[in-house]
Amino acid sequence: MKIINLISDMQKESLAARLAKKTVGFVPTMGFLHEGHATLIEQARKENDIVVLSIFVNPLQFGQNEDFDAYPRDIARDEKIARELGVDYLFYPTIEEMYKEDRTTLITVEKRVDVLCGKKRPGHFDGVATVVMKLFQIVMPTQAYFGMKDAQQVAVIEGLISDYHLTVQLVRVNTIREEDGLAKSSRNVYLTPKEREEAPAIHQALQLGKSRLEQGASISETKEFVENYIKEHTASEIDYVEIYSYPNLKEVKEPRDGESLILAVAAKFSRARLIDNIVFSYTKGEN
Ligand code: PAF
Repeated sequence: MKIINLISDMQKESLAARLAKKTVGFVPTMGFLHEGHATLIEQARKENDIVVLSIFVNPLQFGQNEDFDAYPRDIARDEKIARELGVDYLFYPTIEEMYKEDRTTLITVEKRVDVLCGKKRPGHFDGVATVVMKLFQIVMPTQAYFGMKDAQQVAVIEGLISDYHLTVQLVRVNTIREEDGLAKSSRNVYLTPKEREEAPAIHQALQLGKSRLEQGASISETKEFVENYIKEHTASEIDYVEIYSYPNLKEVKEPRDGESLILAVAAKFSRARLIDNIVFSYTKGEN
């Protein structure tokens, strides 16, 4: 595995790979790798000649009250994991390398951001879109891998790819789950044993909600059902239960057969705020 710190060096390697007609699979991360990242890397490894992993804690996507300095970092551990998973290039630039002082432009995300978690994080997705655009220009991937746990981020990047006619293909990677259905997350360790027992109810509620909706319940009845199910089975405080079209994240009055929808939840436990979602093609009458 080659570790690269300079943009020009990464571009040279990627360009050579692309000219040699090799596929380049790219996994962008902010480091402190966990199982979710490992799944993305493994899939990229299976599907490409070359795998590039980037580690860059992007200051632009942190808000005023979000602690950029406190974001966990462990590059030695990350390097070891990346090597074991068969990454070819680890792109690990400094902030100065990525953001020159005389920057002229910044991407603004105009849609898909005023809902779900984006509502509470103004500017966050501008920072994500800007850095991902830069990383795409640096790594020149044929395919880029993103986890559906953060479905809103996937929706924003799909918009970016479409708006700027980027040739990279985004690969949506399904959320990986514990055996009992709880979405894997580094935050799960903050759950008390009792909360950990209750937490799979979130995924159950999503699945049951989908069935209800497809059996004819209205959007508001479905949201209410999901909310009540989580309230009955956990001691968490619900932040939101929402249903939107996906990936454009628009309000849906009455779903059409075959329409792609997202049913998403955020719930606060004593020391962890968990998010989860399911994206599905609405099929009336399905159970
Ligand atoms: O999902 C992340 O870790 C980040 O938002 C990303 C895509 C690496 C951009 O900084």
